[in-house]
Formats: sequence, structure tokens, C-alpha cells
Amino acid sequence: MTQLPTKVGVLGAGQMGGGIAQVAAVAGLQVCVYDAFPGAVEKCRGVHKKSLGKLVEKGKVTQADADASLARIEFVASVEDLKSRGCDWIVEAVIEDAKLKKDLFARLASLFTDERVVLATNTSSISITEIATAAGPAAGRVVGMHFFNPVPLMQLVEVIPAVQTAPGVTERTIALATKMGKTPLKANDRAGFISNRVLMPMLNEAFYAWMEGVAEPEAIDGIMKLGCNFPMGPLRLADFIGLDTCVNIMNVLADGLNNDRYRACPLLKQLVAAGRLGDKSGRGVYEYPGK
Ligand code: CAA
Repeated sequence: MTQLPTKVGVLGAGQMGGGIAQVAAVAGLQVCVYDAFPGAVEKCRGVHKKSLGKLVEKGKVTQADADASLARIEFVASVEDLKSRGCDWIVEAVIEDAKLKKDLFARLASLFTDERVVLATNTSSISITEIATAAGPAAGRVVGMHFFNPVPLMQLVEVIPAVQTAPGVTERTIALATKMGKTPLKANDRAGFISNRVLMPMLNEAFYAWMEGVAEPEAIDGIMKLGCNFPMGPLRLADFIGLDTCVNIMNVLADGLNNDRYRACPLLKQLVAAGRLGDKSGRGVYEYPGK
């Protein structure tokens, strides 16, 4: 039988890490969350309450299960605490910075020496093979486990083995994603995997269409929503993901696939330079006064 973890350690309490912690807890797993930024824990607690409240309202989770899930999530004060609390599966969901992630995986590898502990990364585009290499002797236990935002609602987990990942680790990742109520689908470790290789150039193209005056953002988004049944138009989705993240992912695609056709649109880069990062900064393509 495939071995499932008993306690999941999540690194990062932001949108993605918080969502991953929530779905793990709802699936009945004990969860420990660590975030280096002061204030992240309180914000994450608030997001959990709001999200679970919505799911209770919709009858997807009972109030008792929501309360029990919240009680299964513990916030800890250091990476070392994840080890002392007995976490036997780590999901890293810190910001998309290759050096930061590699340093973190080197540290995780020295802390979690037990061969059974899997070190998963939620990176959306950074090479899993390079992250695994940074984990040295633990490289075979590193795997990509890519969730989608908003994690409690999105069905997919993209599972990406590094060149070094042991086949058993990939199987266990698929089993854990299934236990978390998700549908795992496998992709190979090439820049952007499948999701962002296909999605990001489409979003980038919407910025080109806007820059060239083909249509205004509302029309671009309306056409794609109504004509292609997208839940959000491409420019609205770019704001939701974060325009800086979109630029970073386009850079990874251009460099990783050795092809300038993946370069970020100048208008997209200009908005980022102006601090218009999308929902998180209150303004991107659109304005979000309440955020
Ligand atoms: N938890 C629980 N409920 C939530 C929620 C959450 N985290 N987020 C939203 N909801 C609820 C809302 O409260 C709302 O509830 P009501 O109907 O009761 O008001 C309901 O979901 C619908 O939300 P909205 O009315 O705000 O808007 P919507 O109908 O457009 O749905 C959405 C929101 C689910 C986000 C939908 O627009 C959607 O699926 N958008 C596309 C998202 C997407 O493509 N995500 C992937 C991004 S790429 C990525 O994550 C990976 C990467 O590497 C970049």
C-alpha cells in the first residue's frame, strides 16, 4: 500500500501555502505551517476561517469538520519546528525565487534525513531538477507538487518528478494529492511544465493585444469569457495571479526553452515596474480599491 504522511509541514502561509494547509487539514491530516514574515500567520488564520465558512455555507464541509480541520493546523515558529513536530511530508510554498528555494531545500535535506520524508515544492515554473540537485543526498525525495489558486476550489495538482525523483516518491505524491481531494496529473520537468507553458503565453498575448490597441481590457476579457467559457478573462486572471509572477514565469519560459517568443510583453513589464502587481497591490490591469 502507498505510504501516506501523517503530518504535513507547509513552508509559507501565503495564498498558496495557506490553501495547501487548509485542504490537507480538511482531508484529515495534521498540518504544521511556518512563515518567516510577521503577520502572515494572523492573515492566514483569517483566510482559513473565511474560506471554510464559504464551504460550510455551500454544504461542501460540515461546521464540525471545518472546526476540526482548523484544530488540525498548527503554526510554528521555525523550520526546525517542522522537524521536531514530526512532519513526514514537506510542501514548500515560499515566493518564486530560485536561490531562496535552493537554499531552503539544502537546509531541509540536512534537517530531514529520514529516507521516508518527501520534500515537495509548489513552484509554478522553477526547475524541479535544479531544486533537487540543491537537496544533495535527498534529491531522490524531491518532487514538484503544483497546486492552483484558489487551492480549496481548484481541482488540479500537477505532479512533476525531477530527473532524480525516485518512482515511489512520484506514486506517493499522486496518492497524497488524491487523498487531498484533488486530481493529480503528471508532467515532465521542462520550463513551465504544462500549466504555465500553455497558460502564460496566452495571458502574455492578451497584453500584446491590449498594447497594440486591438481592444480595451474589458473587451479582451469579455471576449474570452463569453466566447471561450473562461471563468476569468486573461487580463483579470493575470491580476489574480500577480503581474510580477507572470513576468517571472515568462522569463523562466524564455530562458528554459531558449526562445525569445516567450519574452514578457513590454506593457506587462511596465505595469510591474510601476508597482501595479494586480489584486495584491490594489491595482494591476484593473483597480481593486478594497484590497
Ligand atoms: N475558498 C472558498 N470559497 C471561495 C474561495 C476560497 N479560497 N475563493 C472564492 N470562493 C467562492 C467565493 O466566495 C464565491 O462564493 P459565492 O458564490 O457564495 O459568492 C464563489 O467561490 C465564486 O467566486 P466569485 O463570485 O468571487 O467569482 P467566480 O465565480 O469567478 O469564481 C474563481 C472565482 C473560482 C476564482 C473563478 O473565477 C476561477 O476559477 N477563476 C480561474 C482561476 C484560475 O485559473 N486559477 C489558476 C491560476 S494559475 C495558478 O494558480 C498556478 C500558477 O502557477 C500561476
